[in-house]
This record gives sequence, structure tokens and C-alpha cells, in this order.
Amino acid sequence: MAATSLFSNFVASPRSLSQNSSLRCLVPASSAAFPTTRKYGAAVVRATQSDTVVEYGRKELISLTRPLHDYILQNIREPEVLRELREETMATMKGEETSVSPDQAQLLSMLVQIHGAKNCIEVGVFNGYSSLAIALALPEDGHLVACERDAQCVEFAKRYYKRAGVDHKVDLRHGLAVDALNSLLERGDIDKYDFAFVDADKVMYPTYYEILLKLVRTGGLIVLDDVLWSGKVADTSANDAITSSIRELNKNIFQDKRVNISMVPIGTGMTICRKL
Ligand SMILES: C[S@@+](CC[C@H](N)C(=O)[O-])C[C@H]1O[C@@H](n2cnc3c(N)ncnc32)[C@H](O)[C@@H]1O
Repeated sequence: MAATSLFSNFVASPRSLSQNSSLRCLVPASSAAFPTTRKYGAAVVRATQSDTVVEYGRKELISLTRPLHDYILQNIREPEVLRELREETMATMKGEETSVSPDQAQLLSMLVQIHGAKNCIEVGVFNGYSSLAIALALPEDGHLVACERDAQCVEFAKRYYKRAGVDHKVDLRHGLAVDALNSLLERGDIDKYDFAFVDADKVMYPTYYEILLKLVRTGGLIVLDDVLWSGKVADTSANDAITSSIRELNKNIFQDKRVNISMVPIGTGMTICRKL
């Protein structure tokens, strides 16, 4: 894949990634955070006329093949109730592929636990797989506000919260997520939440992100799913509305000084943002 400009203000390397085993990053010309010459350990930095191309050493990259992903999944400690939920989804619901993968759910639950999160939000519940993983990771007095517009999904998820014995932790809001989030703002939940997970309509991500930055406390996490969009964000021939909106979001979050970030290539890509 030729690394030609992904974003209008990013510069492309003259060599393609596939021709070169080194890792590289396209750095925005205008970003004040980056001087034109930088060193990342052994990484090589080359300056072009107005932009910078950074080579990040020669760390080996793994392509996540199906057998390798199967191997990872065999090493997941998936709670029984989540496995049952997943299997019933596959047997009875359409769109099971939109749910996070078990390795993603395990990471979400680990983040909640590491963070000692008590108050959480999820935007986009579907069958309840990720929200149940979060609820199971919460302490007994933990609380998750979960937003979902589809009535059938709401009923399915509620059944599993009950089966897992965590229904007392989950406040499932049926309706548009933006309305639910705004109602939290209106009732004064500013800086109240420790953790938020966004996995719904992609074009609304910037709106959810801005509202969540108000609802989440300093040091709290906002995790956004699908940020690599099956790799389409790096495919210059993919310019559909959703891919373009995710690229724009990724660029804006990269430049957003209100958060620390880590983009993790798990599932279809997750960005973990920590509010500063
Ligand atoms: C990708 S699925 C969520 C999967 C879920 N997080 C999981 O991993 O199990 C997206 C869900 O968001 C819901 N959704 C999409 N747009 C929404 C909106 N504007 N308000 C509320 N829910 C929405 C859809 O109905 C769908 O169930």
C-alpha cells in the first residue's frame, strides 16, 4: 500500500510501507507539538520541505491472521455468561459481527479494573456483550449508564444483565445516545464518570466525544471503538463518508491537547483517551 497522503495536511513518505520494514509515522506540518526534527530512540527522522517523516525503528509487525486471532481467542478468559450471550446472538440476531470481540471485551474489563472505575458510560449496547463485560468488572456499588436506540437490543441486553446478576449496576437508556448523554449533563453529572466506551453511529463520535469530555473526570478514560475501520483509514482509495469521518476524528483526537492517547490495533481498532 503506497503511503500517499491520508490527510491533506500530512506528508507521505516516498517509499511504501510494504517496501520498507521500518515503522513510520506521518507527522502534520502544522502541529506545534512536533518540531521538524525529532529522534525516537533509534528511530530515524528525515525532514522534507515543510513536513517531517519519522521512521520508528525496525520493530517487527504482526499481521493478525485468522489462525493467530483464533490463538488469541483460545487464551481469553471469557466468563461463561458472556460466552452464552455471544452464542445466543450468533444463533438468533443479525449483526453479531458488530459486537466487540472477546479480546476487546477482556481489555475493556481490564481497563475498568486497573482504573478502579465505579461510574461508567457506554454508547451503543447492541446485544450487551461489551456493557456486560464492563458491568462484571465493576464493583458491587459500581454504575454503568448504557445507551441504545434499538428496543430489541435493549430487551436482549437486559435479560443478560439479569442472568449475570449485574442488572442493579446498569441503567440502560432506550433512545438516542445524544439525548441520554445530554440528560446526564443537565442533571449535573460533570466530571462524574471514570470510564466511557463509545461504539455506536460513527458520524456522531465527535459529538459523543465532546460531551463525554465534560462527563468524564480528569484522569478518566474515553475509549472509542472502530478507529481503524477494518484498516480502511489507511487505504487511500477508501473515501466513503464513514471512513472519512473516522480519519477526521482520529486526526482531531491526535491533535487534542486535552487528552493522552493510545491507538490500539485490537478488533477494528480502539483509541484509549485519558482526560488531562
Ligand atoms: C456496534 S453496535 C454496539 C456493540 C456493543 N458495544 C458490543 O460490543 O456488544 C452499535 C449499537 O449502537 C446502536 N446505536 C447506533 N446509533 C445510535 C444512537 N444514535 N443512539 C443510540 N444507540 C445507537 C445500534 O443500535 C447498535 O446496537
